[in-house]
Amino acid sequence: MRLDKFFSTTGTLTRSEATRAIRGKRVTVNGMAAQKADMKIDPDLDVITLDGQRVTYQRYTYVMLNKPKGYVSATDDSRLPTVLDLLPEKYKRLGLFPCGRLDRDTTGLMLLTDDGELAHFLLSPVSHVPKTYAYESASPLTAADAERLENGVDIGEKTLTKPAHLEYDGKSGRITLAEGRYHQIKRMFEAVGNKITELERVTLGPLSLDPALERGEWRELTEQEIAELQKHNRNTNRKETE
Ligand code: URA
Repeated sequence: MRLDKFFSTTGTLTRSEATRAIRGKRVTVNGMAAQKADMKIDPDLDVITLDGQRVTYQRYTYVMLNKPKGYVSATDDSRLPTVLDLLPEKYKRLGLFPCGRLDRDTTGLMLLTDDGELAHFLLSPVSHVPKTYAYESASPLTAADAERLENGVDIGEKTLTKPAHLEYDGKSGRITLAEGRYHQIKRMFEAVGNKITELERVTLGPLSLDPALERGEWRELTEQEIAELQKHNRNTNRKETE
């Protein structure tokens, strides 16, 4: 990467400011004054300073995985394969972790990242990030049960579940929640005398599961997807502080 691009990517200086700073001998690369803005650097290996302060390259990695059954949403497990085992080794080295949990037998959209702030936002119960799941149930859902699920049911906790949105047709449908309690959807269906037989997450906030990904396949998020997630995060933070 070019040295001036490094500064603009880290948000420290614009490229023209970086050029001026380099000319003014304010920038060092591995202890030597940098000479040229187009000098090639490795942001992961080279030590770069501006006015004596280290500037670090903080590019986070975001991976969308279509989780298959049988994998646990963890970075490590002594007995069972984890979602990290589905990714190349370099992502483990980067410290990627799954953003939230899906049960071992739940499939679909899983986001893995090393961006702690974004993960915190997606996981925080106060963020109310909507998540949609496609499901199949053992018995067809009645209109009365669907209404109960939408309004909130008792799953044996202090409070009823928060309002949910349902689209259903017989034994299959989609349910959108803005909270994430342990085994929540399974317990909600049990609360109305039914049983979930298949569960697949299809959206997470502004992200949708890429239909081109087969189970077990993954890809990095596009710049647009990352921007949408960040926008969602910023908007929610703004609403909370207003
Ligand atoms: N609800 C569940 O019951 N299981 C999941 O994996 C996700 C939501």
